[in-house]
Amino acid sequence: MTKRRIILDCDPGQDDAVAILLALASPEEIDLLGITTVAGNVPLTLTESNARRICELAGRPDIKVFAGAKRPLIRDLVTAEWIHGRTGIDGANLPDPTMPLQDRHAVDFIIETCLASEDNSITLCPIGPMTNLALAFMKEPDIIPKIQEIVCMGGAVKEFGNTTPAAEFNIYVDPHAAAKVLDTGIKFTMMPLDVTHKALVTPERLQRMKDMNSPVGDVCGGMLDYFNRFDMTRYGFDGGPLHDPCVIAYLIKPGIFSGRQVSLDIETGSELTMGQTLADWWDIQEDKEKNAFICDDLDSDAFFDLLQERLSRLK
Ligand code: BDR
Ligand code: CA
Repeated sequence: MTKRRIILDCDPGQDDAVAILLALASPEEIDLLGITTVAGNVPLTLTESNARRICELAGRPDIKVFAGAKRPLIRDLVTAEWIHGRTGIDGANLPDPTMPLQDRHAVDFIIETCLASEDNSITLCPIGPMTNLALAFMKEPDIIPKIQEIVCMGGAVKEFGNTTPAAEFNIYVDPHAAAKVLDTGIKFTMMPLDVTHKALVTPERLQRMKDMNSPVGDVCGGMLDYFNRFDMTRYGFDGGPLHDPCVIAYLIKPGIFSGRQVSLDIETGSELTMGQTLADWWDIQEDKEKNAFICDDLDSDAFFDLLQERLSRLK
């Protein structure tokens, strides 16, 4: 397997934080070129500092972290403190970061990194609203051929939404950005709620993390204890869904996941269904281009075994 050169675009977020840790713990499969941050779960000042906190926790203050868009392309910013807490990573109890935030804007980092790379050599991994990616494509469309694939967390296909009945959070917050990114025609792979709602941090899985007896295990245990409470109460789930790490796990072991190549559209016109991801799962419109690979299932034990094995590498 060739190593993926990735840019992780995120809004930490407890599950984003675990995705960062999984990427940092997997150097055989993943070359993390940089972390770009966006306003989403919490405002940008928190998402960028949380990303740095997590890099420092992993002993990687050398990772380049960039701040990007403070708000979506068109709509007002909607945040999710009711899920993630005031800091975005409540439960982590990490000190303020000391590693620097990079001077360059996240969008310029994405553009410059892509332009300096060979065609088809970069994987973009948005696990928050796709504002930074859309801005990069608008500012410099010449980056499009440089990108091998976009693997994102977002959307809900056969499931209902988690922010409105129709829409999942990342797509709802900036549906115009998500639609622009999809419109580039770049190979597009999506981890919607259909799959992430099967990646549940059950009490046993949470205990396994806590039992690692390492700073990373303690922080993940604390964060996910906090994060679990929302979905367990609202949906009656056996644990909180570990949405964003699904993107990184897919890059490491795609065989854990299954899905379908389908035609996908994103609603940007209707206030009622804003941000809905409409997938033609049953190929009703046979002639329409199948523009997205959408995962709807995973081997959850294999996913958590992978996560556990990788996180235990970080001391
Ligand atoms: C997505 O929204 C955020 O709350 C999570 O970090 C994840 O990226 C799930 O809908
Ligand atoms: Ca996220």
